[in-house]
Amino acid sequence: MCGIVGYIGNKQAYPILIKGLQRLEYRGYDSAGVALITDQNELVVYKTRGKVSDLEHFSTSKDTSGTVGIAHTRWATHGEPNDVNAHPHYSQSESIAMIHNGIIENYAVLKADLMARGFTFKSNTDTEVLVQLIEFVRQTNEVDLFHAVQLALTQVIGAYAIAVVEKNNPDTIVAARKSSPLVVGIGDDEFFLGSDASPIIEFTDRVIYLEDDEVVRLQRGKEPRIFNLNNVEKSHEIIKLEMSLSQLEKGGYPHFMLKEIFEQPNTIRECMRGRINVDHTSVAMSGIIDNKEKFLNAERIIIAACGTSWHAGLIGEYLIEEFARIPVEVEYASEFRYRNPIVHKGDVVIVISQSGETADTLAAAELAKSKGAFVYGICNVVGSSIPRMTHSGSYTHAGPEIGVASTKAFTAQVTVLSLIALTIAKEKGTMPKEVFERYVAELASIPDKMEETLQVSPYIEKFSRIFTYAKNFLYLGRGYNYPVALEGALKLKEISYIHAEGYPAAEMKHGPIALIDQEMPTVVIAPNKGHYEKVVSNIQEIKARKGRVVAIITKGDTVIRDMADFYIEIPETEEGFVPLLAALPLQLMAYYIAIVKGCDVDQPRNLAKSVTVE
Ligand code: M6R
Repeated sequence: MCGIVGYIGNKQAYPILIKGLQRLEYRGYDSAGVALITDQNELVVYKTRGKVSDLEHFSTSKDTSGTVGIAHTRWATHGEPNDVNAHPHYSQSESIAMIHNGIIENYAVLKADLMARGFTFKSNTDTEVLVQLIEFVRQTNEVDLFHAVQLALTQVIGAYAIAVVEKNNPDTIVAARKSSPLVVGIGDDEFFLGSDASPIIEFTDRVIYLEDDEVVRLQRGKEPRIFNLNNVEKSHEIIKLEMSLSQLEKGGYPHFMLKEIFEQPNTIRECMRGRINVDHTSVAMSGIIDNKEKFLNAERIIIAACGTSWHAGLIGEYLIEEFARIPVEVEYASEFRYRNPIVHKGDVVIVISQSGETADTLAAAELAKSKGAFVYGICNVVGSSIPRMTHSGSYTHAGPEIGVASTKAFTAQVTVLSLIALTIAKEKGTMPKEVFERYVAELASIPDKMEETLQVSPYIEKFSRIFTYAKNFLYLGRGYNYPVALEGALKLKEISYIHAEGYPAAEMKHGPIALIDQEMPTVVIAPNKGHYEKVVSNIQEIKARKGRVVAIITKGDTVIRDMADFYIEIPETEEGFVPLLAALPLQLMAYYIAIVKGCDVDQPRNLAKSVTVE
């Protein structure tokens, strides 16, 4: 939800800011803009509706000189995506410019007050209200920019990561955060700002993650200084980034999504590294072992997440209940946070998030913490907000996921949940030794089986073309594969804009069967484990109504192969690990259908990678 970048140093800021915006474009791509203090000491703002490439085009032949600047790529919240609502926003006198990621909830009250004092507004954004407020505070209190930002923020209710520059102050950027991420990069005589570390890693691996209610002053030739809103100086830890630049490139693939689909065998190897022992007989998840008593004594586990992470959570429910025999409830974080849920002191709440920044998931974690639960995070982005506020947790180690549609993060989340379920099962003694060892060995073999599964890519590319006519899709699965059906449907919706619904296969006859005809394809996840015969019956019911079936089957299954219009074989595995293989052809199918339809798979319309607003 909006990406922000900043630079102050000895280099020309504009190319660094543009590159940074390109790296953050996954966070929003409705409009883009930059503010620079030029070599002529002018504070210029260039901004336009559209993508970063449109901004580059717009700025051609304009003065883009200057060694200090801020830039923004927007996912619209207040005000439609157009040139005027694009960031940065000027203050009334055009002496201050600001970029913002988040939402100022009390903007209407603040705006009315400023209007009564003679301020006029050009845009419909909440951001313009804040920059005007900063100017008002600066003038009326006769304080410098830093203190004006501090004071203005004490009046703000909402979420923000902001960066502010001032015309007559070319040696300073002031930035602040509350509930929206902000990272400061420390180079040699230069500083960077980013919504995450991706715009920074090319220049330095030394970063500071700002905490809520902190304001940082970045001044040429001086150390960064961080204060809270009450002007108390805060100490800060400089963290060394582990990320590499190549992880942020497409590496020869036409899209990040395809690259990330094909990365899965390796991301799952990374995810299991050091967690499964070399002879594949034991599992150790340190976050679980260190808090063993919490898990062993838990009367139930609640999992809260959004979107794809919620689907992973559903698979986690099946895994933990089956392996470790602890009751699990799975909640949409957005519902959980607002419905006054019953959470007991002994409860364990697991929150799952790729980005670690999803506003609803963060709020769910905070609520659970405030009610005395033990909160465990499963996250991909190292150093993001959720791992920093939870009691303990596990990283998924999938590496940066840039495609807006989540792929490798999903399978890594399911892998971590499998490892957690196995670790608790071992500690609780709920699984016979030989079954436990069989499962561990099988999990260790999944990356190789994923490699085998991905070989069907050219075939999926070919048959997917046939389905671009479809307006609706149905995805069916039972047991562990019901969440896979939900995830397959979500992938298709997100990137090809074809309506798709995921259903438990047995529910088909309670309603969706009415939709089935030659026009609506049904994807059935039908491995030879679980309720195989019942799924075979479902396929027959679809065929009897002239529906077309794409079946995901276990290698060698001739029964469904002969019934389905198209079939995709996956290697045999334990029932609980089928989702790790079955998800892959569904991701590929969504990808190829979207490509044939000419959709922008990495940046689908209206979406953004991390949803840091409600
Ligand atoms: O970063 P998170 O895992 O918390 O994000 C949750 C959802 O916003 C995310 O999974 C979303 O549904 C993706 N676009 C799915 O592809």
